[in-house]
Amino acid sequence: MPLRLRRLTALLCLLLGALGGGLPAVAAGTGLVAVAGADGRTGRLIVRELLAAGYPVRALVRDPAGGGFADGVDVVQADAREPDSLEPALAGATALIIAIGAVPGDGANAPEQVDYRGVQNLATAAAAAKLGQVVLVSSAGVTRDDHPLNRLFGNVLQWKARGEEALRASGVPYTIVRPGGLTDADAGAGGIRLGQGDAGTGFIPRADVARITVAALAEPSARGRTFEAYAAGGPPPADWAKKFNALAVDAAGTPGESKP
Ligand SMILES: NC(=O)c1ccc[n+]([C@@H]2O[C@H](COP(=O)([O-])OP(=O)(O)OC[C@H]3O[C@@H](n4cnc5c(N)ncnc54)[C@H](OP(=O)(O)O)[C@@H]3O)[C@@H](O)[C@H]2O)c1
Repeated sequence: MPLRLRRLTALLCLLLGALGGGLPAVAAGTGLVAVAGADGRTGRLIVRELLAAGYPVRALVRDPAGGGFADGVDVVQADAREPDSLEPALAGATALIIAIGAVPGDGANAPEQVDYRGVQNLATAAAAAKLGQVVLVSSAGVTRDDHPLNRLFGNVLQWKARGEEALRASGVPYTIVRPGGLTDADAGAGGIRLGQGDAGTGFIPRADVARITVAALAEPSARGRTFEAYAAGGPPPADWAKKFNALAVDAAGTPGESKP
């Protein structure tokens, strides 16, 4: 390679490095990670998984009096519907995991307000705070308008799809996990199948979803990807980079298509 070309290549690599391309968004076990929906069933498992991985954790909750967090967890009041509560809640954080979800029967906290506008508010605040990574727990089925959950629960999947779009459009580095039906089985009992195209069905333990979100923090190969996650046969994943790398990166603004 001619010298000038080599110099240009080296300069490009430096620039890409400075922009974060190919580098971990969040070095494993370092940097404060905020969890929105931290007192939810998946949120609590995410907090536990983060602590086990050595991350300092900030739990964003609507009611700090609820308690139940381990010593050392920074518990902060924040409501995703209230943008003013989010800026201080993300101050000093390096990453955010979002595990919020609307409460059935609460008209003021319905899917539109939580799963769309709440996620949009969090994404906007995360971009303003220049976070290195945001991981969103969404849902399998968000692209299926005729899914029965839309009829049963205020078009929840359609609003979740809008929330996903808002995160992709925010400009902050992201990963979107679309779990199948959530169960309370233990994590690590079996394999995990990641897929794209939103055509699959199945279940997955909340604890495995928590593992995926924490693995996606430090893996550059998870960034810019949207994928479904289901329990599967076989052993628990040993190589997250390999699993994430097998997935397509989202095209601008849209979820990735399955690789052939
Ligand atoms: N159930 C399933 O089979 C299934 C399948 C796929 C995906 N999902 C999705 O996976 C995610 C986690 O599910 P989960 O069952 O673990 O949820 P969950 O136990 O119902 O917890 C939901 C969390 O969202 C919080 N929240 C609600 N409204 C909020 C608001 N306005 N601002 C901030 N936080 C708010 C709740 O806080 P409070 O304690 O203050 O209410 C709670 O911490 C949800 O998005 C869910 O829709 C569920």
